[in-house]
Amino acid sequence: MLSLGVAVLLVRWRAWRGRGRAAGQEPSAALDKGFIVALDIQVGMGLLLYLVLSPLPRLALQDIGAAMSDGVTRFYSVEHAFGMSVALIAAHVGYARLRSSSPPGEHYGSALLGQAVWLFVTLGSIPWPGLPYGRPLLRLFF
Ligand code: HEM
Repeated sequence: MLSLGVAVLLVRWRAWRGRGRAAGQEPSAALDKGFIVALDIQVGMGLLLYLVLSPLPRLALQDIGAAMSDGVTRFYSVEHAFGMSVALIAAHVGYARLRSSSPPGEHYGSALLGQAVWLFVTLGSIPWPGLPYGRPLLRLFF
């Protein structure tokens, strides 16, 4: 997901720098579409965790005060969910700007900005290993 998002960012950056010059610098529609679909699926899985599978948001609702003073519960119930939702909105705004770019190049700057915000907020919202609320990068067993 992350590498796909970084690839989208790089391609948009190249397209933004080359706008108005040669044809063929346009971002790849397939790459952009693939990224946004993968992101929607990922957020859908996050929502499933949030609303059904994870005990942490339910725990937070039972005693909000206690949950906010516990870093792990607060991270998954508020910070992670909020951050990833903001990132989702930024990515969708960037994608919509790109699609409404007519003539090609017109909205490349804001499309690039949307993707950069997505990356920045996502990097800050991931439970990286080593953080108090961190999780392994790869889970082979539950
Ligand atoms: C691109 C978006 C997202 C990414 C990359 C992402 C990534 C992750 C990762 C890596 C974990 C740790 C999983 C593990 O234990 O191995 C996690 C857990 C979790 N995520 Fe997300 N997430 C995203 C969006 C969301 C959203 C939008 C929500 C809620 C609305 C959400 C809610 C949760 C919850 C509640 C957990 C903790 C589950 C638990 O341990 O009980 N996520 N997420």
